Amino acid sequence: MKQTYNIITYGCQMNKSDSERIESVLESSGFKKSSLNKADYAFLNLCSVRQSAVDRVWGKINQLKKQNNKVKIVLTGCILPKEKDKLKKKADYLLNINNLMQWPILKNKKDKEYLCAQPKLTSQFEAYVPIMTGCNNFCSYCAVPYTRGREKSRPTKDILNEVNKLIVQGYKFITLLGQNVNSYNGQINFPKLLKKIDKIPGDYWLSFLTSHPKDMTDELIECFKTCKHLIPYLHLPIQAGSNKILKAMNRKYTNQDYLKLINKVKKINPDINLSTDIIVGFPKETKKDFNDTISIIKKIKYDMAYIAQYSPRPNTVAEKLDDNITKEEKKKREKVLTEILKKTALQKNKKMVNKTIEVLVENKKDKYYIGKTRNFKNVKIKTNKQNLVGKFIKVKIIKITEWNLEGTII
Ligand code: SAH
Ligand code: SF4
Ligand code: F3S
Repeated sequence: MKQTYNIITYGCQMNKSDSERIESVLESSGFKKSSLNKADYAFLNLCSVRQSAVDRVWGKINQLKKQNNKVKIVLTGCILPKEKDKLKKKADYLLNINNLMQWPILKNKKDKEYLCAQPKLTSQFEAYVPIMTGCNNFCSYCAVPYTRGREKSRPTKDILNEVNKLIVQGYKFITLLGQNVNSYNGQINFPKLLKKIDKIPGDYWLSFLTSHPKDMTDELIECFKTCKHLIPYLHLPIQAGSNKILKAMNRKYTNQDYLKLINKVKKINPDINLSTDIIVGFPKETKKDFNDTISIIKKIKYDMAYIAQYSPRPNTVAEKLDDNITKEEKKKREKVLTEILKKTALQKNKKMVNKTIEVLVENKKDKYYIGKTRNFKNVKIKTNKQNLVGKFIKVKIIKITEWNLEGTII
């Protein structure tokens, strides 16, 4: 009888991509996927970026044990060193993702890094390709450098091989992944890697996540003009608008530096889709500091922003600062930013009405197809046509809201 497994993934795309590799490594070692209720091993791929994410895991472990009394709990992913002992008591295994290939339970042990494993991709047409892991930046609030360790770039040759294979298999949308892709430090730098991939012939889109403003070079910004597969979408976390807070966050740029970057990007493409991450309620963020965030996000006019309330993380530099902004005030600030964001997103979407744009169809729900426009916006399309999932189509945008577009096939 084959051993069975299931996996729950928390956190960001990095973790989702890692889970695809965990699945393939397990399956090549003879494991079979089954429901959580029946699995011999339940993998939980954890995220520690905020306390709320960690808290959810405790409840999940208890629930799993109640549902399935033979299940062995394997905790992996982003785990803070300080929480290891506590988690060990609850789990059967604590697995460092970097040692996945050497895990004693695996039969086909290979002495390789897990990033070399062929992933079991969840989609037939969209793929994430990790190009580096870890982070050297130590933003003062962030758990990632402690959970994932230092930056490590994959060899350029391996990345090119993986992307090449995906394109030959007909993959239509490739996203290069890393905590900070623009500090990729393989045999070539990140813009050169983009240019090399862009030369691979085929009908596909290329994108990347996530960038750090301090490493956003002119050479990289130019790629939005020169790389024809690169879609006009940039996620560039700003985190805060006040220079005092940016300094305390150890972000290594000022609001003026950030604005300059955005202006350069907009010069190349005024309609580029811009998204960001913002933390509200960092220690000592005064009303005046918060107003600086308001003023810069109004200037930039983002299409999307992931707004997080500051949550102190064990062992980080900011943990030692007094978390003096109340939960209520954090909530209030989040709401204020969300309202501004809704307005700017609506303004940007209005510009798309009556325009025709390429769409990658991702799904079908009732009478609608759901997809992504080339500038990375959600769109729904009503049509009687069949078998469109995984294909590129041309769509005319007829209706918009702040977060969604609606279109017809032309
Ligand atoms: N590498 C990426 C993102 C890593 S974490 C980057 O540098 O931007 C994803 C997001 O979570 C961060 O951008 C930040 O906005 C948020 N985040 C990280 N630590 C946090 C904390 N302690 N409290 C609240 N939000 C946090
Ligand atoms: Fe965290 Fe900063 Fe590294 Fe992003 S760049 S992962 S926010 S330490
Ligand atoms: Fe991602 Fe959370 Fe780890 S955001 S890198 S899964 S701590």
